[in-house]
Amino acid sequence: MRFALAGIVVATVLAVAACSNEGGAVQSGSRVVRGASPEAGKAQIVRYGCGACHTIPGVKEAKGLVGPPLIHFGKRGTIAGFWSNTPDHLTDWIQDPQHMLPGNDMPTLGVTRNEARNITAYLESLQ
Ligand code: HEC
Repeated sequence: MRFALAGIVVATVLAVAACSNEGGAVQSGSRVVRGASPEAGKAQIVRYGCGACHTIPGVKEAKGLVGPPLIHFGKRGTIAGFWSNTPDHLTDWIQDPQHMLPGNDMPTLGVTRNEARNITAYLESLQ
């Protein structure tokens, strides 16, 4: 009995530690996309028409209200309320949202890997 209780306590402590690590990663600004260009990403956001559905700070054309506004995206904890907001997950999402969350309302637009990395760099820079 006592061992079982100790197990629960250890599991709880580990869970709490995992959560606070996540928070620390966000604050230390670790969401840098190596080798990607936020400026190019901004141009690609215009080219792919993301702004037809999203409001995106810094992109004049992006005033859409179909999808969620991408304000402060670099500070968000999740993508579509499902994936943790890491550069890899965000790149995967932009490249193929229908693979990441089948049936959601964002279409897969044919964005290439490099373009998605640039767009990720731009969105993660939105503090
Ligand atoms: C036809 C409309 C549409 C277009 C075009 C579109 N999206 Fe989306 N997007 C959505 C919808 C709807 C969601 C919400 C999905 C969900 O949560 O189920 C979404 C979700 C997202 C999310 C996660 C938002 C959050 O709050 O978690 C990001 C990031 C995103 N889109 C980026 C982009 C980018 C970058 C482009 C252009 C390459 C783009 N979207 C083009 C409709 C669109």
